[in-house]
Amino acid sequence: MSPQDELTAEIRRTLPRACIAPATLPDCGGLQLYLLTDDFPQGPLAPEEMAAALHEPAYWIFCWASGLALARRLLREPALVRGRKVLDFGTGSGVVACAAALAGAREVVACDIDPASLRATAANAALNGVSVRLAGDFFALTEDFDLVLAADVLYDRANHPFLAAFLARAPEVLVADSRVRNLSVPPYALIGEETAETLPDLNEFDEFRSVRFYQGRRRA
Ligand SMILES: C[S@@+](CC[C@H](N)C(=O)[O-])C[C@H]1O[C@@H](n2cnc3c(N)ncnc32)[C@H](O)[C@@H]1O
Repeated sequence: MSPQDELTAEIRRTLPRACIAPATLPDCGGLQLYLLTDDFPQGPLAPEEMAAALHEPAYWIFCWASGLALARRLLREPALVRGRKVLDFGTGSGVVACAAALAGAREVVACDIDPASLRATAANAALNGVSVRLAGDFFALTEDFDLVLAADVLYDRANHPFLAAFLARAPEVLVADSRVRNLSVPPYALIGEETAETLPDLNEFDEFRSVRFYQGRRRA
């Protein structure tokens, strides 16, 4: 079975009419991802589809606005990752991990608690011809990194304590987020903002297209 068919079979366990296909991300240097096709849904979701989608959200079928903005930034400013060992936390489709590898990171680890996300990330790394190592549990990783990246993971407040845990593992952290308007978690500081959209387009409110970048540096 092709990776596209495998990922389509994966999502059809919860959304029986969904299709996955490669899409080229806009302004991302040709980076491609297997994503939900943008003609879905072609009608209202059945109640059992809605329940399954909410119970087991398949984040990996979308490239979230924050992931797209961070991938664009890494590809525009490759010095951020070039030659460095990088962890992408909450990788989803693997968009940020793939962008870091394309931008010249020495080693990239993609971490996600969803095993389907890791399968999608492996397929997306192969699609882009890059090497990405997979990890399911952040706390099972014992190694250090030069940089931790995290895009769109703060929607869940239970993830906020990870901001401190990242700095125990790397001297520098770069977070992209469109959900939390004013993150006030020292030593994280706002370093920029740009507009991006979730793909395929979820027709989200404009406020969720405004992605903020927060940088954390370990105190000496
Ligand atoms: C909204 S998606 C963002 C995906 C990707 N970074 C992007 O921007 O397209 C959030 C991802 O974080 C993952 N996630 C949430 N909590 C996590 C945790 N504690 N450890 C690892 N991954 C987590 C979810 O499974 C999901 O794939």
